[in-house]
Amino acid sequence: MCGIVGYIGFNNCKDILIEGLKKLEYRGYDSAGIAMISSKNIIVVKEKGKVSTLENLLENNYLDYKVGIAHTRWATHGEPSKINSHPQIDCTGDIALVHNGIIENYSSLKKYLQNKGHKFVSETDTEIFAHLIEENYQTTKNMIDAIVLSMKEVVGSYAFAIISKYEPDKIFACKKGSPLIIGKGKDEMFLASDIAAIIKYTKDIIYVEEEEIVILTKDSFAFYDINKSRINKNIQKVLMDISEIEKGGFPHYMLKEIYEQPQTIENAIRGRIDLENSNARLDGLDSNIERIKKCNRIILSGCGTSWHAALIGKYYIENFARIPTEVEYASEFRYRNPVLNENTLTFFISQSGETADTIAALREAKRKGSLALGICNVVNSTIARETDGGVYLHAGPEIGVASTKAFTSQITVLFLISILLGRLNNLSFEESYSYLEELKNLPNKVNETLKYASLIEDIANKIANSSNAIFLGRGVNFPVALEGALKLKEISYIHAEGYPAAEMKHGPIALIDENMPVIFIATQDPLYEKIISNIEEVKARKGQLIIICNENDDKLRKYTDFIIPVPKTLPLLSPIVNVIPLQLLSYCTAVKRGCNVD
Ligand code: M6R
Repeated sequence: MCGIVGYIGFNNCKDILIEGLKKLEYRGYDSAGIAMISSKNIIVVKEKGKVSTLENLLENNYLDYKVGIAHTRWATHGEPSKINSHPQIDCTGDIALVHNGIIENYSSLKKYLQNKGHKFVSETDTEIFAHLIEENYQTTKNMIDAIVLSMKEVVGSYAFAIISKYEPDKIFACKKGSPLIIGKGKDEMFLASDIAAIIKYTKDIIYVEEEEIVILTKDSFAFYDINKSRINKNIQKVLMDISEIEKGGFPHYMLKEIYEQPQTIENAIRGRIDLENSNARLDGLDSNIERIKKCNRIILSGCGTSWHAALIGKYYIENFARIPTEVEYASEFRYRNPVLNENTLTFFISQSGETADTIAALREAKRKGSLALGICNVVNSTIARETDGGVYLHAGPEIGVASTKAFTSQITVLFLISILLGRLNNLSFEESYSYLEELKNLPNKVNETLKYASLIEDIANKIANSSNAIFLGRGVNFPVALEGALKLKEISYIHAEGYPAAEMKHGPIALIDENMPVIFIATQDPLYEKIISNIEEVKARKGQLIIICNENDDKLRKYTDFIIPVPKTLPLLSPIVNVIPLQLLSYCTAVKRGCNVD
């Protein structure tokens, strides 16, 4: 995730901004930059790489600048490079700005502005906002009016901080969908993406809400709504310490990342649903679409959690596109001389984009002539660079060792890919439409699921002393059972196995007694009645039943008191919701056992 910081006051702004950027490094980034203004002179210094590289570039210079904005960039549009780094400027260099978010309609706005004579230098979506303000300033002759007009023209998410030669003793900021806070000091004001960047200087914070615009001077702040009406805002005292703040107030990164999922799923979907054509819009696949059409076989490959996402992807692709799909452990792939040719489409799935086995599998697939595409979170990672194209997750950095938000984003992206492949084949407009409509509801449904956290914590207390656990699911929820078991092993050091529920009776059922927690995923789908028979089998052997089922499912309550309800969705989309309680269960169990979660 990008991070932004701003300062206006009586101190040298450079050091404060660099220190703020260092506090935002944990969000992940690939480049950093700063813009400062004094006596109507704007200086921009930026570079690909670390904040420390930027710091070295600034060294002992620029000591008399007292107004500035700064940025750490996590590339989305345009590769990580000096030119694509922020701040971005308008044609004249009179306006400089930094941005956290994504402007979805940037390509149409870019064409519009180019027709008006604006010259663009970067590949970023951000640059259009500098040119839009420049364009609108020509008629308004007033920064706030120009910003408001520009806000009304962009679609997407943003937190912008803006400086301008037209009003050099002010910082302007506005926000929609991306975080932004203001900090009030004594004769100095700050802004930032999160409190960590400025807490050293002030604990007096004002939260910027949706579509608000802020003007900062060194000793004042003024808030406006999108209609330019003045808004009164309260200053809030922050009581947290710095380590708590970096985790967003959560005790661990894993929990923070679990709770980010409504937002990260939204990020994976944003701009990618084309309801008009009942299709998915995935720019990263466009350049290979003719070759994709010729492929008659698909291989999905990854490790660990990414491999589980691949298993779910197989259900999606075979269901919607009817193309035979295989799932391969990336760690085994290159050792068994796999059969591949130019009509094989391979996808390499990786949060980090740096997993050595997945990179090796990708190289083997390319060597054998297949089309190799990536599904990665980290922009410009090795897998993202070496694949022929692909789709980013846009989930922001995953710091906890247990993969959580990347998993739900991977499933979301695989779902979109399968819709696109389906529409290239025989998937009907109507069927695709109903799935895409429901996909849009998933962030809310995940949010609702998170509300059962305290119930899950109680259940975790019950299993925390167990030595073993079994996770059972069927159909598309079998990989979810595998993922539940992996999370419990990895975080709480309890031995756990995931099985297709019907396989139990072929041996593992011998393990079940009153000491064995058995976690069923039994949401309503075509296999629901069958999984009830499997629940009966475990009940008969006195296993400790824990059941994830849909809200209002009273039928299953007779089997156990340990029911975890989740909202209902379409069966194929249910893994995105059903995995949430399993992530929380492993987290709470690990905390109860005193394990080092992150
Ligand atoms: O970064 P990747 O997705 O390539 O990582 C693959 C696995 O190492 C990873 O998913 C691992 O299984 C997780 N830590 C599980 O929570």
